[in-house]
Amino acid sequence: MTKAFTFINLFFVLFFGVILYVFPTRVLKHLEKRSLKVDRDLRETQSHLVQAGKLSALGEMAAGIAHEINNPLTIIRGYCLQLERISNQETPDQQKLKDIIAKLGNTITRIATIVRGLKNLSRDGRGDPFSTFEIHPLIEETVSLCMDRLRALDVKMTINPSKEKTILEGRPSELSQVILNLLNNSIDAIEKFENKWINISVNESPNWVEIQLVDCGPGIPAETVQKLFEPFFTTKGVGKGTGLGLSISINIIKNHHGELKVDPHAQNTCFVIRLPKRQPTAFAA
Ligand SMILES: Nc1ncnc2c1ncn2[C@@H]1O[C@H](COP(=O)(O)OP(=O)(O)OP(=O)(O)O)[C@@H](O)[C@H]1O
Ligand SMILES: [Mg+2]
Repeated sequence: MTKAFTFINLFFVLFFGVILYVFPTRVLKHLEKRSLKVDRDLRETQSHLVQAGKLSALGEMAAGIAHEINNPLTIIRGYCLQLERISNQETPDQQKLKDIIAKLGNTITRIATIVRGLKNLSRDGRGDPFSTFEIHPLIEETVSLCMDRLRALDVKMTINPSKEKTILEGRPSELSQVILNLLNNSIDAIEKFENKWINISVNESPNWVEIQLVDCGPGIPAETVQKLFEPFFTTKGVGKGTGLGLSISINIIKNHHGELKVDPHAQNTCFVIRLPKRQPTAFAA
């Protein structure tokens, strides 16, 4: 009787022991799998948002960009007419010809800058490996996409590059999107100001590059700063802003192992992008 009782006891202890071991292990494994899937889905959604955000920004700017390309085209047409006139002269003025050709070259460069900016931005760089590129042309090309809007609102735009050629590793298409979003945010914020200005400057240290985008706004109160980077936080009217720009931007910069923040000590509104010049190789594929 006692033997049988002990045996039954032992059986139950073993039975529940196995259940207590196997069940949580299985549940844990299942939860782990689920969390990996959620993580993967989240990353996929984020990358879709990055692409959708770019395309929507491009759609909004399409008219301005078309205008921005049309202007130099009109100028080129004018220079071509002048060239035709001069070439019909018996003794064409060589200096004038040289001047017009130089101006033609500059105007064509303007169009090329805009087209490169468009290519950078519209490119679906999801999954692209990090590449090495120069930051200053990327900034110029991105700013050129907003030129029409900047001019229409009479915003004084200045870019102070670093003294050296600043080269870093990253995904230019995504970084162009971040700069464009900061720029569009600044333009929206200062639209009604009297003397409007925006300045972009680049500073570098041996391992880091810092891009500062400052506008003439009065700065952002500390209690609001945290909210800015949350998805769907917007102070823009319905149909004007989705509130996704900064949350997408901060994700892009984090994926580049950098930082995007508001400088609390600046006199004006100042956003700072800090990026490592080299990406850790483990992440660079
Ligand atoms: N330079 C700035 N000056 C003042 N406020 C700003 C500035 N940049 C961003 N903000 C504030 O942060 C909010 C969130 O910006 P975010 O770019 O995430 O979204 P959004 O511009 O409103 O919409 P979108 O998705 O079209 O970018 C803005 O609505 C604005 O209130
Ligand atoms: Mg925005």
